[in-house]
Amino acid sequence: MEDSIDVMLQEQSARLLYFSQNNRSVTLWTSAIFAGFYGLWAMFVMPGLKVPLRLKVPYVPSTKEQTMNVMKLLEGRKGRLADLGSGDGRLVFEASSVGFKCTGFEVNSVLLAVSRARAWMRGIPTSQANFVSKDFWRTYQDTTT
Ligand SMILES: C[S@@+](CC[C@H](N)C(=O)[O-])C[C@H]1O[C@@H](n2cnc3c(N)ncnc32)[C@H](O)[C@@H]1O
Repeated sequence: MEDSIDVMLQEQSARLLYFSQNNRSVTLWTSAIFAGFYGLWAMFVMPGLKVPLRLKVPYVPSTKEQTMNVMKLLEGRKGRLADLGSGDGRLVFEASSVGFKCTGFEVNSVLLAVSRARAWMRGIPTSQANFVSKDFWRTYQDTTT
């Protein structure tokens, strides 16, 4: 009888040990997946480390409707246009297609690379649509002081 209780206790503790080890690896995997997603999200959405936290504007691209509204506001105008925080460059491309000479300011290097690649693929010259890696807060200070 005592033997069988010992065997039962041993089996129970072996099961608990297996469960807790398994649980730990599930927790580790879940944390790693979350950290990976967060890293990707931050890379695409946040403007990097150069901008102080209180001044950060996350990447929220304009919808088709918002882009059209901007284009309506630009109707009858021409010249140069600056998009402060140009994201993937959608406003810059839309405005340059109607003759504006545009510069997109962007600090997120992933988005900058995406917009430059899109401009290259569309064959748009840099004189028409140009993307620069500059913090618009600092650029503004640089041009006003
Ligand atoms: C709301 S999104 C607008 C994107 C784009 N103009 C559009 O309409 O789809 C703001 C963008 O500004 C960029 N950004 C935020 N702070 C910035 C800064 N200080 N200087 C330059 N770009 C910045 C972000 O990385 C993000 O891509």
